Amino acid sequence: MAAPDTPAGGRTSPVPERRPAAIVSHLDIIYRVVGGKRSNTSAIGDDEGESIFRNLIGRGKTVATVQSVHAVKDVSFVAYHGESVGIIGRNGSGKSTLLRAVAGLLPPTNGEVFLAGTPALLGVNAVLMSALSGERNIYIGGQALGLTKAQVKERFEEIVAFSGIGDAVYRPMSTYSSGMAARLRFAISTAAVPDVLMIDEALSTGDAEFRKRSGEKVDEIREKASTVFLVSHSNSTVRDLCDRVLWMHHGRLIADGPTEAILTAYEGWDPKKHPAGPPGIG
Ligand SMILES: Nc1ncnc2c1ncn2[C@@H]1O[C@H](COP(=O)(O)OP(=O)(O)O)[C@@H](O)[C@H]1O
Ligand SMILES: [Mg+2]
Repeated sequence: MAAPDTPAGGRTSPVPERRPAAIVSHLDIIYRVVGGKRSNTSAIGDDEGESIFRNLIGRGKTVATVQSVHAVKDVSFVAYHGESVGIIGRNGSGKSTLLRAVAGLLPPTNGEVFLAGTPALLGVNAVLMSALSGERNIYIGGQALGLTKAQVKERFEEIVAFSGIGDAVYRPMSTYSSGMAARLRFAISTAAVPDVLMIDEALSTGDAEFRKRSGEKVDEIREKASTVFLVSHSNSTVRDLCDRVLWMHHGRLIADGPTEAILTAYEGWDPKKHPAGPPGIG
């Protein structure tokens, strides 16, 4: 539920009221991956007769295996309205998983997630259909965000212009490059001002001009007291857009603080020397 608006005139107090937009408490996400694994013939026995038999029926038997991937481990934080939170960390550290869990797309294995309001980007991602044209997807995504058909129609040109995809909007999204698709998703997601905007790497795909426009859009959304989560490999994008940074490492939140302090530590960290994480952090 959206909390009541701030009084006309905006924030008058030098210390703005801090209303939580997302509360994450001792969150664990464990993926269970079911797969078939061929047992290695030599691992089971070297009996010749058995091997010949195995060769007749195939190479060893296929055993169903369940592997667990503990992608997010005991993560807790509170994000506030008007805050822009960057999530950094190496590949596979759990950034996207954390974002999807905060958006409610992945059920917590343990712990809890509370979100005030509706998350945008992922909500849109979930409903877009690649077999349909960009145009159809603008209507579907816009309506998923709570806009009426008439409101989408009104904003259609603006969304297309923002995405920069031009006439490709009338082609199926399956024909788009990943950059074009990401730009269109971003444009749809920001067509309505969401309570919580979540961006996973989408901004790094565009050119400088698109990044500038999306940066302005993010600022505009934050000013309306929404919360922005941004996963990005680009430290400069995080510096430009975020006032707070969460640093994920091997599924753990090892640092949470002001952008400059965290990014300086991240950039000064040598993962070859300290693979378990930077000393003195965590
Ligand atoms: N759908 C999935 N099923 C199983 N494992 C997954 C899935 N998605 C991600 N993982 C694993 O979870 C870990 C964290 O992945 P991810 O959240 O994508 O990290 P990041 O976004 O930081 O690169 C990785 O080990 C990854 O292989
Ligand atoms: Mg990711």
